[in-house]
Amino acid sequence: MNLVINQDRLNSEIEALAAFSDAEPPAVTRVVFTPTDLKARAWIRERCEDAGLAVRQDAIGNTFARWVGADPEAPLVGTGSHIDAIPNAGKYDGVVGVLGGLEAIRALQDAGFRSKHSIELLIFTSEEPTRFGIGCLGSRLLAGTLSADAARKLTDNDGASIENVRRKAGFTGGLEEVRLPSGYYKAFVELHIEQGPLLEREQKPLGVVERIAAPASMRVLIEGAGGHAGGVLMPDRRDALCAAAEVILAIEQAVRSSGAVDTVATVGICDVFPGAVNSIPATVRLSVDIRDTDLQRRDRVMKTLDEVCRAVSAKRQVFIHSDLVNADVPADCAPAIAATLALTCEKHGFSFLRMTSRAYHDSLFISRIAPVAMLFIPCRNGYSHRPDEYASPEDIARGTLVLAETLAALAA
Ligand code: GLV
Ligand code: MN
Ligand code: MN
Repeated sequence: MNLVINQDRLNSEIEALAAFSDAEPPAVTRVVFTPTDLKARAWIRERCEDAGLAVRQDAIGNTFARWVGADPEAPLVGTGSHIDAIPNAGKYDGVVGVLGGLEAIRALQDAGFRSKHSIELLIFTSEEPTRFGIGCLGSRLLAGTLSADAARKLTDNDGASIENVRRKAGFTGGLEEVRLPSGYYKAFVELHIEQGPLLEREQKPLGVVERIAAPASMRVLIEGAGGHAGGVLMPDRRDALCAAAEVILAIEQAVRSSGAVDTVATVGICDVFPGAVNSIPATVRLSVDIRDTDLQRRDRVMKTLDEVCRAVSAKRQVFIHSDLVNADVPADCAPAIAATLALTCEKHGFSFLRMTSRAYHDSLFISRIAPVAMLFIPCRNGYSHRPDEYASPEDIARGTLVLAETLAALAA
């Protein structure tokens, strides 16, 4: 089979998708179910239909584009990723796996390949936690890791219920129906940028992922006492932001002293109320993200966070309450699929690194219902979740070629 990846088409589609954005270029902001996201979805749907794929969407907006195989009843081979982008993001996170997946299918079609198993491109809804506070919303529902009941309780940052938001976006039907039956996928492979510096550092063009690290996130509410910035003297203060600062630095200290570079924690959101220069912060809301390749170490940091909250609460006479959003276990990739990826790399003489994904991905949840593997390509300086995220067209095309051949081997 003579597989040719149309690098120019793929690159120009990545650029075209980046134009669906609520941020000034080169930044991309594409939050789930915003008008911009809906326009981007319609644009991709058209590309999939142009490729002759049968497209369906489920009640949460996961989009399935299927190239039907010779045995339509046989379990499917899946590939895909997400197109939502956090505020002020880049062009490649998720997008490479979606448009690369589509290009892989088109390359197989152009090469005259005919598979037994259908090959399906899956575009997951809301891999990013921006709007509803929890990442991988679509894949959690597909895998049954998040129940329909629990999903219905989610609200967005403006307090709108997920039911209202998704219906307004045109996604009706019962959330119960999103869950995929077991055995739906024979195999699932996600192509993604690494979002870290290792491939570039090791000068490897590809990474075969063997494990996906365990993410957790918490919301912390700190209530102190507000008041006049001039009138309230320091001994009388119960400043919620000063308490938050202590909590944040204590988490950083706990993680730095965990003894492993794989332990990471980030406080990416700090909302201060009332947020006036001459008003003592009365309430602070923090969002804390903790990850590790080792579950027990990750859980120890979560426990430390609870202890820190209790200590700071007592010391500063503020109320602190923490809520768990998610605490997921890590996933192992399926050795047989990773071996197919590795074999394909070797066949072409592409060197690769066997690695752990420190970022989470929808594959983390699909792994609960199907054998999965992931293929990484380098991104410049390891930058991701920032506007200067960059992957070269050559690296993207190489990853897409390996993806296409792997899908062919799995679907034959
Ligand atoms: C995915 O966006 C992650 O935060 O790992
Ligand atoms: Mn991301
Ligand atoms: Mn991603």
